[in-house]
Amino acid sequence: MRALLLAALEDPDDATRRAAAGALGRLREPEVEAALLRAWNSAGSDAFRRALAEALGKAGDAAALAALREAHPEDPEVARRVARAVLMLERTAARGETSTIRAEVAPERPQPVRFTCRAGLEPLVVEELGPGWRPRVVGPGQIEAELHGPLASAWTSRIATEFALALPPVPRRRDEPLAAAIVRLLASPPALEALRRWTAGPIRYRISFAGGGHRRAVVWEVARRAAAERPELRNDPTAAPWELRVAERTDRLCGALHPRGLADPRFAWRVADVPASSHPTIAAALARVGGARDDDVVWDPFAGAGAELLERARLGPSRRLIGTDTDERALAAARRNAAAAGVRLELARAEATAFAPPEPPTLVLTNPPMGRRTGSHRTVGALLERFVQRVAERLAPGGRLVWIAPRPERTDGCARAAGLRLETSRALDMGGFRAVLQRWLKP
Ligand SMILES: C[S@@+](CC[C@H](N)C(=O)[O-])C[C@H]1O[C@@H](n2cnc3c(N)ncnc32)[C@H](O)[C@@H]1O
Repeated sequence: MRALLLAALEDPDDATRRAAAGALGRLREPEVEAALLRAWNSAGSDAFRRALAEALGKAGDAAALAALREAHPEDPEVARRVARAVLMLERTAARGETSTIRAEVAPERPQPVRFTCRAGLEPLVVEELGPGWRPRVVGPGQIEAELHGPLASAWTSRIATEFALALPPVPRRRDEPLAAAIVRLLASPPALEALRRWTAGPIRYRISFAGGGHRRAVVWEVARRAAAERPELRNDPTAAPWELRVAERTDRLCGALHPRGLADPRFAWRVADVPASSHPTIAAALARVGGARDDDVVWDPFAGAGAELLERARLGPSRRLIGTDTDERALAAARRNAAAAGVRLELARAEATAFAPPEPPTLVLTNPPMGRRTGSHRTVGALLERFVQRVAERLAPGGRLVWIAPRPERTDGCARAAGLRLETSRALDMGGFRAVLQRWLKP
């Protein structure tokens, strides 16, 4: 096949030659590079040279880079593709040196950091960070805070889904191309200082847009301009530890540097899960709202893979951690997670409304079925009503029920009628639907 394609580079038909160049661009071999360069050096149509420039950018090496750097094509489209190919080849040539994030480095002065969480959980992130971070809610699911210690200390928040280094916005200039404004943001002193401080090896970045979309032409233009202005900044979507996420406003450009190359060590216990598994940040939120008492007998009646119990274990000692579920696969996953966490869970297969824990629980902590899966939406309301009544009976006096209520309009009345008192309630975005994180007390 390769031989055929190489021969087709000399075909009298231009379209055949272009198709061959396109296919050869996927093969990174010296023989291919040499053949593409021979074709490049023997003048062809502009259309063929466009295809060759693109293929050399993908399949070439040092020789292609040298040849394309020397090229000064008149045709603007060939010139554009040559410039892009040169960037690609430089990127490939530099891959030998890896770029990593220096997790243990602290800033010289407080670094603004932006945490993201599910809308509704902001106050919990503020609380878990504590006053030392000077956290404040700046929008739905958005908390700004100050990093004083090592970068990795931002994982202090187990409820946040991610965090990023917040950059001061740059004003938009009238008629300025978007790419030029992005380069001003990327090469602004705070951005450069942060990138230099927290990167080991070359500074590699990628660009993304808060509003979504790839906007490839803009990204290429950013790469070209940034390479010309600040050669230390290397655009490399695949090997970049940093992602500059850009948010366009009418008068300014906002952005934050996301350390995508920084490992998230928070949920290392999570070696197994089930399709219905809680997002661990939700489990962390439930555990925090539940609180930790040394004498707690904790029961998760819809334990799944054990996320809530394991997050509760992290908050402090307890007397017992009991998990039940009707699904044997979920219990097997919970066993594996408990072993990875080094936590002792008492696990049993049982129906939530039928099981009587060996002693009255002081904390029922759970993320129940939400009724979102096929078939379960009709029955889940009735199940959860029965469940709330059972919990009220089984809880020890002074005990609490901390859970996510997907149908509060059905369960709140049952809980009250059964003698429970609502202490806190937080509407929560569960990713496409609303539910309420509640804490009930049995007086
Ligand atoms: C939302 S998931 C719980 C997720 C769990 N927190 C985790 O992280 O894996 C709900 C769980 O309830 C279990 N379940 C559904 N109906 C049940 C019932 N009537 N009694 C006990 N468990 C049930 C399912 O097998 C599933 O594992």
